[in-house]
Amino acid sequence: MEYLLLYAALAALASSILYSVHIVIYRLYAHPLAGFPGPKLAAATFLYEFYYDVVKSGMYIWEIERMHQQYGPIIRISPQELHIKDPYYYEEIHAPGSRKRAKDPKYAIAFGAPHSLVGTVDHDHHRLRRSFVANYFSKRSVMDLTPMINEKVDKLIARFEDAYHQDTVLHLMLDFAALTADVITYYSFGWSHGYLDDVNSSSSNDFVDAVNGLMSMFHINRFFPILITIFRAAPPKMVGWLQPQMADLFNFKAKLRQQASETLKKMENHADIKDQGSIFDALVSPHVPPEEKTLDRLEDESALLLGAGTETTARAISLSMFHLINNRNMAIKLRAELRTVLKTPTSKASWTQLEKLPYLTGVVNEGLRLSHGMTARLGRVSPNDPMLYKDWVIPAGTPVSQSNYFVHMDSTLFPEPEKFDPERWVRATENGEYLSRFIVAFTKGSRQCLGMNLAYAEIYMSLAHINRRFDFVLHETTMDNIAVYRELGIGYPKEGCFSINAKVDAIIEK
Ligand code: HEM
Repeated sequence: MEYLLLYAALAALASSILYSVHIVIYRLYAHPLAGFPGPKLAAATFLYEFYYDVVKSGMYIWEIERMHQQYGPIIRISPQELHIKDPYYYEEIHAPGSRKRAKDPKYAIAFGAPHSLVGTVDHDHHRLRRSFVANYFSKRSVMDLTPMINEKVDKLIARFEDAYHQDTVLHLMLDFAALTADVITYYSFGWSHGYLDDVNSSSSNDFVDAVNGLMSMFHINRFFPILITIFRAAPPKMVGWLQPQMADLFNFKAKLRQQASETLKKMENHADIKDQGSIFDALVSPHVPPEEKTLDRLEDESALLLGAGTETTARAISLSMFHLINNRNMAIKLRAELRTVLKTPTSKASWTQLEKLPYLTGVVNEGLRLSHGMTARLGRVSPNDPMLYKDWVIPAGTPVSQSNYFVHMDSTLFPEPEKFDPERWVRATENGEYLSRFIVAFTKGSRQCLGMNLAYAEIYMSLAHINRRFDFVLHETTMDNIAVYRELGIGYPKEGCFSINAKVDAIIEK
């Protein structure tokens, strides 16, 4: 009996070894990607990617950079994925809606919101879902919202005035996250979270914590998607114990679930669903098919809006602020330009007026470029047709990616790419160059960021009004606090999270 068990165990071991050897041989020599350049180990096993992204925590981006130096612009970075480092090919990967682009399922799951837009793999399904909310975030809709954004910017200005009088240190990333979270909650749900009214939100922001919690799991989720299911099914208390940062997200999601459930009840009772009511009203409006009107859908879509709408925008604003504070000449130059539309430090200008200012536009673009949006490889899949890159024919169904980081740091497009240089945009406009094509922080094509207009309005309006009113000095903050060292979906510095501390140095009186 003992021998029988031993033989069975050995047979199982031998067959799993044989199976693995067979898989590796297939991947190396018979797989449709077998002829693409790259290290054999990356082609043979997902463990290569796993080692750099999970064990070494977000370091595959640097290995990919090294592999490109060795093997050229197109490389096989895992048994199933190609990475292309060529900014001119970015728009082909992220093609417009007329050409089908599915999402790489491994990435779609990593956001932890499988029923949301970012979690939707199939191209047509994504188009359908996006159509429910596209108008909600159109430029016209955002224009109508600018008085509300101004009101929130004013609250932030009042907070900075207090900080000046009390000589307190500001955590700029959290201050701007308070602004962006209050804007997105008001716009999407009809109530503002009220961070700007809460003094504690200058030292902590649970949306930012939640995004950081989710991102700390980003690569782990890709390899172990079962964790998403477990976290979703577990009671919030248990999640809090397992992953304290995620608990904030789950608590907040419970609140959204409540509002979503009330909207569904309202719908069942044929009550007042408004076209431009909350985002929930848009998600259950009469032209949305019944199978799309589920609690999971409403909950995931709304959670995505909060996460996506808060951190990224706050980071882009904060990054520009860091450089303006670090380089007084830039701040002076910006203020001189702002004076043309903001006659006094407390004047107001519209988003349309501000967008026309060349130097401010340079500051905005550099903030977006160096904050990258997401650094993740947001792979896209052409499901039916092969993609063509130079002499290469990429088989249909292959995830193809290009991290935003490589486009934004391409020195042929942006000489001295690590330098924050608003003037490069002024020069590009004067020379008739279409450089903004290479700002890919929002990605491109059919899955481009839905909140792009809202983000631009917030960035322009806060950078303009705050820099017209204040001078700042950095406090115990250097490039080390903001430079990308790790790629966990978004960029992280070597220690801790992206953060910028500063003090108000002066309130500008004229
Ligand atoms: C500077 C600010 C922002 C940046 C850099 C940014 C970046 C991005 C990126 C890179 C994606 C693509 C993700 C993927 O391919 O998986 C995305 C998608 C998305 N973003 Fe943003 N985002 C910003 C602000 C916002 C805001 C304010 C909102 C809120 C309305 C928002 C809502 C969304 C949504 C709903 C999607 C999913 C779109 C889809 O799959 O169709 N984002 N964003």
